[in-house]
Amino acid sequence: MSERVTVDPTDCPSWSVLRTEADRMRQKSIRSLLRGDREFLRINAAAMSFDFSRQRLDAAVVDSLIQLAEETGVRQSIDAMFAGNRVNGTEGRAALHVALRSGLEDQYAVDGNEVAEDVHGVLERMETFAEEVRSGAHRGATGERITDVVNIGIGGSDLGPAMAYQALRAYRDPNITCHFVSNVDPADIIDVLSQVEPEQTLFIVASKTFTTAETMINAQRARAWIVDQLGDGAIGAHFAAVSTAEQHVHEFGIEPENVFGFWNWVGGRYSLTSAVGLSTMLAVGPACFRELLDGARAMDIHFRETPLADNAPVLMGLCAVWNRNFMQMSTSAVLPYSRDLARLPAYLQQLTMESNGKSVRVDGTPVTYDTGAVYWGEPGTNSQHSFFQLLHQGTEDLCSDIIISARPTASDQASGAGVVDQHDVLIAHALAQASVLSVGLTRGEVAATGVSEDLVPHKVMPGNRPVSVIMMDVLTPFALGALLAAYEHSVFVQASVWQINPFDQWGVELGKKVASGIVDDIHRRQVEDSELDPATQKSLAAYLARRDEASS
Ligand code: F6P
Repeated sequence: MSERVTVDPTDCPSWSVLRTEADRMRQKSIRSLLRGDREFLRINAAAMSFDFSRQRLDAAVVDSLIQLAEETGVRQSIDAMFAGNRVNGTEGRAALHVALRSGLEDQYAVDGNEVAEDVHGVLERMETFAEEVRSGAHRGATGERITDVVNIGIGGSDLGPAMAYQALRAYRDPNITCHFVSNVDPADIIDVLSQVEPEQTLFIVASKTFTTAETMINAQRARAWIVDQLGDGAIGAHFAAVSTAEQHVHEFGIEPENVFGFWNWVGGRYSLTSAVGLSTMLAVGPACFRELLDGARAMDIHFRETPLADNAPVLMGLCAVWNRNFMQMSTSAVLPYSRDLARLPAYLQQLTMESNGKSVRVDGTPVTYDTGAVYWGEPGTNSQHSFFQLLHQGTEDLCSDIIISARPTASDQASGAGVVDQHDVLIAHALAQASVLSVGLTRGEVAATGVSEDLVPHKVMPGNRPVSVIMMDVLTPFALGALLAAYEHSVFVQASVWQINPFDQWGVELGKKVASGIVDDIHRRQVEDSELDPATQKSLAAYLARRDEASS
C-alpha cells in the first residue's frame, strides 16, 4: 500500500453512491431482502461456505462496494502483498505471511530473494524436533520424556498458539499437554509451574523481537526454576526458542539446534503459520500442522486468484466496510458455535484491532472516516445466556459472524452415542440466532402469539442485525487454517479500502515505554520527581503506600 498513491476513499465516486445506497437500505429490512435472490451472497472457498445473505445489502450495494474496492486499489494492494513488496511502509517491511504456507513450487520473494527454501528449511527442522520430542528421542536432562510444553509469549506469540491448541483438541497427542504463559502477572507463570514437573517440561520462549518485557521476565523466571531444580546444564534440554532475533536468543543461552527462526516480513499477529506454531506442531504432530498450512494456502490462493465479486475474504472485508462506514456499526461480534474455538474471538481481536485500529493513512494524513471496528465475542451457546439480550434488543445495531461446523470431529463422534444429535441442537441454536438477529419479530407477530398488550413492546425483536454465517465441514486443521487466512485477508481488504497500514502497531509502544519508566520509579522509590502526569504520580504513590502497608 505504501507504494501506491494514497486516495481518500471518501473522494471516490462509489463512496457517495454508497452513502445514498445506505439511506435506501435503511428503508429496507433484512427480512424483505431475504425474499429476493441472495445466491450471489453465498460463496464457497477452501472447502468452506461463507453466507453473507443476512447482510443488509443488495446486489446494487455489492456492485458499488466492488467499485469502491477497485477505486481504492484493493486488487493492486493484494498483488503488492503477494509480490513481497514493502507494504508495511512505516516499518519498511514486506508482509509475506502467505509464503509461510506456500508449496515449494510457489514463488515468493522479498527484495528479489526467494523465500521458499528458508521457509521449508525451518519447517523441516521444526518437524524433526517435534518428532523427537513426541517420540521420546528428545528427553529432559534427567532422561525423562517431555510430557508438558510451556509456550511463553504474548500477543501474536501467544494468542495463535493458545487458540489453535484448544481448537485442535481432537488432534492432540494425549501424552503432551501444552500450557501458555503470557501475562506479566506473576500468577500466570506461578500457576503453570505448579502444574508441571521440571524433568518433563519443555519451555518454548516465543518472541519475534526477544525483547518483549512480559515474555523476557517470564522466561527468566522459568529459566531460574529449571536451573534451581535441575542445574545449569539442563537449559539445553528444556528450552527452545522461536524468534527473528538470533543474537538475543543466543544471549539467553538456548542451544542453537533448539532455535527456530522466522523473518521480519512476518507480523506477530500473522505468525501462527511460522515457527510460532511450534507448540501447535508438538501437540498435534507435523502432519496435522501441514494440514493447517494447506488450509491457509487454499484460502490464500482463492484470495489471490478469484475475481473480487466472488472472493470470500474480499466480500467479508467489504461487508465490514459497509457495516462500519455506511451502516455506522462500531462493533462486530465473533460467535463461534464451537467450544473448541473459544479463544478465536481473542485471537481475532488482536488480528483485527491491532491491524486496523488506525487513524492515519499510509501517507500520514488523518482519516476522515471510521476505520477498524471493535471485535469481541464468546462461543455460543454460552454467549446466548450472557450478552445476546443486548445484541437482540439493545439500542446499538451491530453485526456478527456465526461460525459453525456441519459435523462434530470424528473423535467426538466416536466417543459415544448421541453426539451428532447433540451437535444438531448446537447448530439449531446457531441458526436460530442468525435468523432472529436478522429477521426479528414484528409487533403484529408478537401480538398474534396472544401475549398481553402490555408485554408486546418488550417482546418485539427489531431484527436488522446483519449476520454472516461461516460453515465448515468439521473443525479440522485444514478448516482452521482456511478460516484464519480468510480473516487475515478480510482485515487486509478493509485496510486497503481505508488506506491504512494493517501491519504496524505504533499505538502500543508508548504504554510500554511509560511502564518501563514507572518500573524505574518504583525501584528508585522516586515518585515526586518522576515525569509522570499528576494523576499517575498520585496513583503510584498510593500504590506504594498500600503495598508497603500490606506487607508490613
Ligand atoms: O503488543 C505489541 C506486539 O508487538 C504485538 O504486535 C506482538 O504480537 C507482541 O507485541 C509480542 O511481540 P514479540 O513476539 O516480539 O514478543
